[in-house]
Amino acid sequence: MTYTMLEQASELVTPLGREAVQGKAMGDLQIIPDGAIIWKEDQIVFVGTSQDARDWVNSQLSADDQLNRADVSGKTIMPGFVDPHTHFVFGGYRDHEFNQRLQGASYMEIMEAGGGIAASNKATAEASEDELYATGLKRLNRMLDLGITTVEGKTGYGEFTLVEDKMLRVMERLDKDHPVDIVKTYMGAHALPVRFKGDRAAYIDYLIQEGLPMARGRADFCDIFTEKNVFELEDSERLLLAARDMGFKLKMHADEIVPLGGAGLAAKLGATSADHLLKASDQDLLAMRDAGVIATLLPLTAFSLKEPYARGRDMIDLGLAVALGTDLNPGSCYSQSIPLMLALATIYMGLTIEEALTAVTLNAAASIGRADRVGSLEVGKKADILVLDCPNHGHLSYHFAMNLVEIVIKKGFVVRMRD
Ligand code: NIG
Ligand code: FE
Repeated sequence: MTYTMLEQASELVTPLGREAVQGKAMGDLQIIPDGAIIWKEDQIVFVGTSQDARDWVNSQLSADDQLNRADVSGKTIMPGFVDPHTHFVFGGYRDHEFNQRLQGASYMEIMEAGGGIAASNKATAEASEDELYATGLKRLNRMLDLGITTVEGKTGYGEFTLVEDKMLRVMERLDKDHPVDIVKTYMGAHALPVRFKGDRAAYIDYLIQEGLPMARGRADFCDIFTEKNVFELEDSERLLLAARDMGFKLKMHADEIVPLGGAGLAAKLGATSADHLLKASDQDLLAMRDAGVIATLLPLTAFSLKEPYARGRDMIDLGLAVALGTDLNPGSCYSQSIPLMLALATIYMGLTIEEALTAVTLNAAASIGRADRVGSLEVGKKADILVLDCPNHGHLSYHFAMNLVEIVIKKGFVVRMRD
């Protein structure tokens, strides 16, 4: 058997557990000075101090076993980042809209004038599967450079089930071909197609009859953009109940632009996560906490739309489990920058760096149903490991908006190494 060991890290840092951590416990990380980690094939077999690691090797390995070892003095070892909310497969770009917004137009105005998601739908329908694959691959490469080892990706730029099917196929191929693991979400209910104008109920029927059966068994989650003038609470409940019956786990884009009560519905339906939550009420947040719904916050989107950030500090103080995601998409947030996201979460949302780290590893993994395998460095979990070029995790906020990731290990293989 071949084992690999990283030793003499100035710090090994990780949250602990196989499910989301709620409230202030998010700040409780395991921090091991002079840290080491050992893995065999794709699985972690030891986490501890370098001295204990050497003792472990002496007692556990036999003469036939091989040990590769690397000294990572002065560096920090942590789990791979998990990005639990993206729309990374899409055709075309909407740079002109972004610049229009900087000149005063609002996201909803652009959407109501036929731009926004509808523009991406058109470009995604026109793009071939191979074109979507090629641009998706580039985006995944960028993610890996930044230390993202697992990502969630949504459909939702297809007004027709055929296009949604194409988006899912692209993610399935990328998941096979690329080291980053992709958790797939079906999001047929992203925007109301023009052909259904004035009849949201008919579109929900179409999704229930065609969309969900197409995605069943291929996507883990069903998501919906619950927003005034997009999909109302009753549309959302109907679609999500049908999805739940077909075996999908649930996610919602909730209370992003106006306080509609999407967070409360997520709690009522037992969704895995409710995302955005810029305008969610305390009452709905408490219902989410009690129902164990993870609050997935997306500060890069608020930054890009110049909106006030979600109340991350309050949510943690209320006892919720908070996760952080990039929301990479062609409209409201064309960025997968984990470094900028951590800067915004710590500087503007009031999270400590320890809480932010839990939010983008273990809680992010829990919000896409993967906390049993990834999100922390523990025996039995997958060897998805980062080596950061800094002496401790405090630098993740301090050396802000910079990529500190030097080595990325995915399922035991080194997939990135920077000088
Ligand atoms: O998460 N809010 C809706 N969906 C995306 C935006 C998608 C787009 O504008 O293309 C979001 O922000
Ligand atoms: Fe989104």
